[in-house]
Amino acid sequence: MPILLRINERPVAVEAAADTPLLWVLRDELKLTGTKFGCGMGLCGACTVHVSGQPVRTCVTTLAAVQGKPITTIEGIHHDQVGRAVQAAWIALGVPQCGYCQAGQIMSAVALLHGSPRPTDADIDAAMAGNLCRCGTYPRIRAAIHRAAQALSQHP
Ligand code: FES
Ligand code: FES
Repeated sequence: MPILLRINERPVAVEAAADTPLLWVLRDELKLTGTKFGCGMGLCGACTVHVSGQPVRTCVTTLAAVQGKPITTIEGIHHDQVGRAVQAAWIALGVPQCGYCQAGQIMSAVALLHGSPRPTDADIDAAMAGNLCRCGTYPRIRAAIHRAAQALSQHP
């Protein structure tokens, strides 16, 4: 029996076991490869998407846990005004280095700004602590989040 998912505002029927990690389906079945596999243990944040607007680690989240809930991946983040502002800030400040962690970073940043439109440095550090970057782009990530917050405050 297929499992029904809603990904980037589109319904998707998936033939997979209910305990399959969402990340496997996103990447291998649906070819939404912007979401990355890093640690596979919920420790690095590379696989982050939004489920019902909250950042979730898809390597440790089963299909059963997300069926019927709205899922947004990096491929769908431009549908959202905050998502567009974050992507624009990332580009303007040249945040990525190798890029591997960056989809997860953006997903966490967008979720942060939805809940906290003008975050402090401490807010940012707390919200982004679960997203690791081996290239050390943390200062640019923080600056880009502030830039996106400012842009959104000027054009709400
Ligand atoms: S791959 Fe999911 S948290 Fe690292
Ligand atoms: S940009 Fe390389 S791991 Fe973050």
